[in-house]
Amino acid sequence: MAEHDGSVAAAIRAALMIAEPRDKALATRAVARDFAAGRLSFRFDVAMPDRPARPAEPVLLAPTAMPRRGRGGSERGRIALLHAIAHIEFVAIDLALDMAGRFGGGRGAEFVSDWLSVAADEAMHFALVERRLRTLGSRYGALPAHDGLWDAAMDTAHDVAARLAIVPMVLEARGLDVTPVMIERFTAAGDTTSARILKRILDDEIRHVRFGTKHFAMVCDERRESPDDFWKCLVARHFRGDLKPPFNDSARQRAGLPLVSACVLAL
Ligand SMILES: [Fe+2]
Ligand SMILES: [Fe+2]
Repeated sequence: MAEHDGSVAAAIRAALMIAEPRDKALATRAVARDFAAGRLSFRFDVAMPDRPARPAEPVLLAPTAMPRRGRGGSERGRIALLHAIAHIEFVAIDLALDMAGRFGGGRGAEFVSDWLSVAADEAMHFALVERRLRTLGSRYGALPAHDGLWDAAMDTAHDVAARLAIVPMVLEARGLDVTPVMIERFTAAGDTTSARILKRILDDEIRHVRFGTKHFAMVCDERRESPDDFWKCLVARHFRGDLKPPFNDSARQRAGLPLVSACVLAL
């Protein structure tokens, strides 16, 4: 708690403005710990940055300019996949911090505590994947990464309902669908260590999506909106990607999204 003034917003902003990945991960875990221990006052006296700080590497490319990763189980292919996952986890730290810092003042202590715990999980995921990359002789920053991940945050910065509908309930939910395939791919290549890390991440991500559905339901309740209809409407307005099967229905159900496959197919 050294360089901030003791408000939770200032502590979150300070973590967002750290560029060095390991330092950001450590600062994020410290903010979550300090908030849980009551060491930060519940004040939202500073604004969140439009863009968090980024390290000089990885070089960020437009999604269309990204080199193709290939599908094989070669070590090079597995490193490229782990690097892409490390980048997603790194941006996920900032997405969770921004959720807590941007919307927490209006939503209350439970909201802030939930999203700071998500940010701490993402910092742990990043650390696990980054350590695995180093064991395989690479590192985060050695390859280019995708620059589109922050767009969802910018597009939904005006409204907590839109942010919840898109970030946890579409993007993180998509992680539930694709991670089992990646786990199979690492297992088939004999890389059980990476497979184990992804299994741990998948279990945590179910909880993150569940926080998304819980807080979205609370917002809908206050605004007298039907969660299913309002979610569909927000996705149609703010999400430009494709939502297509396969869906991991059992993980989605555990995350409180039982109707989403049906909703998505009806979009
Ligand atoms: Fe994660
Ligand atoms: Fe997550």
